[in-house]
Amino acid sequence: MCGIIGVCGVGSSLDVVVQGLERLEYRGYDSAGLVSLENSGFVVSKFADGVSSVSSLAAWVRNRDLEDAPHQVRLALGHTRWATHGGATKENAHPHLDCTNRFAVVHNGIVENYRVLRSELMERGHHFRSETDTEVIVHLVEERFRLSLDLRQAVEEAFSRLEGAMAIVVSSVEEPDLLVGARRISPLVVGFGESMAFFASDIPALLGEAARFYHLEEGEAVALRGDDLGPTNGALVEMEVSWDLQSAQRDGYPDFMSKEIQEQARAVADTVAGRVGDDGLVIVDELRLDPEILRTVNKVFMVACGTSYHAAMVAKYFFEHYCRIPVELDISSEFRYRDPIVDAQTLVIGVSQSGETIDTLVALHEAKAAGARVMVICNVVGSSMARLADVVLYTRAGPEIGVAATKTHVAQIAALQIAGLYFASLRRNLYPSDVEELMAKLSEIPPAIATALASWKSFTDVAHELVDYRRFYFLGRHVGYPVALEGALKLKELSYLPSEGYAGGELKHGPIAMIDDKAVVVAIATKTRLYDKLMSNVEEVRARGARIVLVTNEGLGEPQRADLRFEVPRVFPLFSPMVDVLPLQALAYELAVAQGLNPDRPRNLAKTVTVE
Ligand code: AGP
Repeated sequence: MCGIIGVCGVGSSLDVVVQGLERLEYRGYDSAGLVSLENSGFVVSKFADGVSSVSSLAAWVRNRDLEDAPHQVRLALGHTRWATHGGATKENAHPHLDCTNRFAVVHNGIVENYRVLRSELMERGHHFRSETDTEVIVHLVEERFRLSLDLRQAVEEAFSRLEGAMAIVVSSVEEPDLLVGARRISPLVVGFGESMAFFASDIPALLGEAARFYHLEEGEAVALRGDDLGPTNGALVEMEVSWDLQSAQRDGYPDFMSKEIQEQARAVADTVAGRVGDDGLVIVDELRLDPEILRTVNKVFMVACGTSYHAAMVAKYFFEHYCRIPVELDISSEFRYRDPIVDAQTLVIGVSQSGETIDTLVALHEAKAAGARVMVICNVVGSSMARLADVVLYTRAGPEIGVAATKTHVAQIAALQIAGLYFASLRRNLYPSDVEELMAKLSEIPPAIATALASWKSFTDVAHELVDYRRFYFLGRHVGYPVALEGALKLKELSYLPSEGYAGGELKHGPIAMIDDKAVVVAIATKTRLYDKLMSNVEEVRARGARIVLVTNEGLGEPQRADLRFEVPRVFPLFSPMVDVLPLQALAYELAVAQGLNPDRPRNLAKTVTVE
């Protein structure tokens, strides 16, 4: 989704803005732009060059450095746009200016009532230059400023007229040292450095520049001054940020995805570390209700999107087995629009890497409003979901920049298993010694991941055998089923190849009709209770000519029953998805790279989906 960065103060604002936009590239974009406040007024530059837009902008800034050295620019705003309203053109790229060229805005989100506002503003004589919903904001600010002559107030008043989830940053030639930001549901963070203040969509954009980070409360507009480097009003709440600059850099890897894949053992180890206290109880990161209340819970919902949903699917097996409580799974965008039966004895668990995905965030808001208790599993400390939750468990995976979730996915599964143990021990479904034993099994996962990743070359060799195939089916049973879905999603996302995941038992109910000798079937055939049943499904597709690939353990999946094998270490079956998914990441990665595609930035996708 769109990325925002705003900078004011003493320093190379333009360079910081470009660097921030480069760090926000993972959000996906089709155009980019910036505005700087200079002696002559606003200078705007925009590029609608698709995925080259940010590099075009960087080149433009470098040329300016050579030609007229605008190092003294004290204020600049940058934006990467992922088109929603109006095509991906230069005219629609942000920043947008008002009729008088005295106000500039960058925006992430959707102004849901923009049609009404636009016609009102046009009736009052405003001239529009783009087809975007965004442009109404800057014209509203222009009008409100005329009344109050106070930019912060004008932005707050304009913002109160806008409906929908969004974040905005506004600047004006009238107040050349001031940036004003506001947000509703969508993320916007504030940072302060030694001589500069910043707004940004996400923390990685500011790593190395800001020393202190804050999040903004909703609705209230916040003004940042380049000469006053501290929080200006109560709408800012300090965040603890442990990520360092190195964690947001490629570090010699060809892309972020390769780096993040290799970080998976550490991600799970960090997520699992120190989770049992001296009293034998499982430790969560934030607890804002009396745990006694959680004991009364009689039903669990898990809500999530995409890969996070697959992690939740894995967790359902664990929760039902160990906590003996019914678990319903919902795709967040469905949960919000049906009429789920939720009350004070319901626990709704939101799973999200970013903690900002709008569908999950709104689903959790609604669950809370209906009286449910909310638990959140997410990777970003202080994210919107984390702030809304009663209980938070963080995946300590570090920043994930590649659009395709890898290390955060395995860390989510680990965190959800810990949540299950927490819950089972609270409800006394398990003895402390059982919890200890399961925690010990969980701590065997990071070394197993490391062993599997050491076979990366053998995984990619298998993938190379499959480069000429155009249709892939993934089969799994029990906890292997969500792994099959995740394998298919990864392959779709990265290589754009048609791929579907199925529960093995469903095969005969339809999907087997698609199987022929042009199909590849990847079966998650590691040792679980349903291994033999899954292998019967494999025989069925083998008999129909499909190329068979097994994800299996040493000594299993007899070579004569498969064309190709990915071998992974055998672990406790309920935890095996954290290991079994690894060769599927390799398959998706290699088939993307073989086509010359950039695995970090799949087409049409954004890392954090902050619009509906
Ligand atoms: C995963 O590879 C995708 N990028 C996508 O499915 C993602 O998992 C989904 O959009 C949910 O994001 P979240 O975890 O930040 O909520």
